[in-house]
Amino acid sequence: MKLCMIGTGYVGLVSGVCFSDLGNDVICVDHDNNKIKNLKKGIIPIYEPGLEELVLKNYNNKRLKFSTDLNDSISKSDIVFICVGTPTKKDGYSPDLSQIYNVAKEIKNSITKFKIIINKSTVPVTTGDEIEKIIAQKIPKKLFSIVSNPEFLKEGEAIRDFTYPDRVIIGTNDRKSNKILKNLYSPLISKGAEYVNTSRKAAELIKYASNAFLATKITFINELANLSEKLDVNIEDVSIGMGLDKRIGGRFLRAGPAYGGSCFPKDTKGIVNTADKLNIDLSVIKSVIKSNENRSSLLLKRVFDILKGKIKNKKICFLGVTFKANTDDMRDSSSLTMIPSLIKKGALINYFDPTGEKKEFENKKNVNFSKDINSAIKNSDLIIIHTEWNDFKSINFKKIVQNKKFRIFDMRNIYSSTKMKEQKIKYFAIGH
Ligand SMILES: NC(=O)c1ccc[n+]([C@@H]2O[C@H](COP(=O)([O-])OP(=O)(O)OC[C@H]3O[C@@H](n4cnc5c(N)ncnc54)[C@H](O)[C@@H]3O)[C@@H](O)[C@H]2O)c1
Repeated sequence: MKLCMIGTGYVGLVSGVCFSDLGNDVICVDHDNNKIKNLKKGIIPIYEPGLEELVLKNYNNKRLKFSTDLNDSISKSDIVFICVGTPTKKDGYSPDLSQIYNVAKEIKNSITKFKIIINKSTVPVTTGDEIEKIIAQKIPKKLFSIVSNPEFLKEGEAIRDFTYPDRVIIGTNDRKSNKILKNLYSPLISKGAEYVNTSRKAAELIKYASNAFLATKITFINELANLSEKLDVNIEDVSIGMGLDKRIGGRFLRAGPAYGGSCFPKDTKGIVNTADKLNIDLSVIKSVIKSNENRSSLLLKRVFDILKGKIKNKKICFLGVTFKANTDDMRDSSSLTMIPSLIKKGALINYFDPTGEKKEFENKKNVNFSKDINSAIKNSDLIIIHTEWNDFKSINFKKIVQNKKFRIFDMRNIYSSTKMKEQKIKYFAIGH
């Protein structure tokens, strides 16, 4: 099939590349000239394991194209996917849908024959209706069908998640579109993905609700970790013991820093915003948001305790600053709260991230980027393991760190506290 992905970010690029790898002709469009110019040269704008190889393979065999020309790309395609950003507005609460509506206005001017227009971006319920209204201002309804097909991939495992999804949700009452999309997704269905056809509004709500639920799981175990610390219980044992119950499941049940990234913070607020407008009190999700917002302060307090309140001039190293491992995404990472707070208290920060230096910390006084793990940790008083990259899992701290009184705060519980004790390393973990 001939597909057009509008927005070549984490979702648009990954799903576009994967669709092309399944044999479709795909044009990935973006209004960011630089991004498209680079992609044409084989320079990938994001870090995502396996993505570069797949882009090069499909670009070279000409199933995958890149363009800035929306009009032309839409006219050459049967199915158009909207994959643009839906960030939180400056009010810190409601979703900014301007990118979606701008694209809808552009699509309106590009349709001459029947198109299925799929919204893959995460949006409030009824956004599909709004997109339909905008396009119907110019185009007869028989020439287009608006479908919701939320994306569930996770950064860091995006290609695997796209290729082997648990489910494909297609929100449409239009039989013709449903049939075409079932066919488009048939390679994934044959590998075990459940295909679910719902109303458009249900599909939109499934995505918001799924993210809110996962954020709740993380927050739940993070709060239990606070309790475990007081009770001298290891939260890892609790996670395993709980997670083995199939009704609960072990994934997203690992204690750590505040959840971040481009989805959970914005989508929890987004669903509450929708509910508030309808006078429905989503009190569980509201308290998840509040608890998560307090999490970084709690962990900072732990840092103060570990350093016995003496932060000034302490050399603190962050291993990883993105919101999780295997991604370069800094959006809403807890390091963005923690590092500036520590600087304010007089700490000297050194950080290493496998995806390189971050513009968020460029030219920030007392924040230094190190090019490798050894030079990052060498002079540290405290090493904070902020993300769970494999690169951080077998470091010989004793050999590398020169200050023999160094401490480790492992926010991802990747080391064994028993082994650390045996080595006489002052090691602090989450939830025990
Ligand atoms: N990142 C994830 O892990 C993930 C997972 C599932 C769902 N989602 C959802 O998918 C959507 C996209 O997320 P993302 O992380 O890929 O965003 P992103 O910011 O990485 O990418 C969006 C892209 O859209 C482009 N764009 C915006 N307006 C455009 C226009 N008018 N014409 C052409 N290009 C335009 C931007 O330049 C950008 O490259 C969001 O709603 C997000 O919530 C994201």
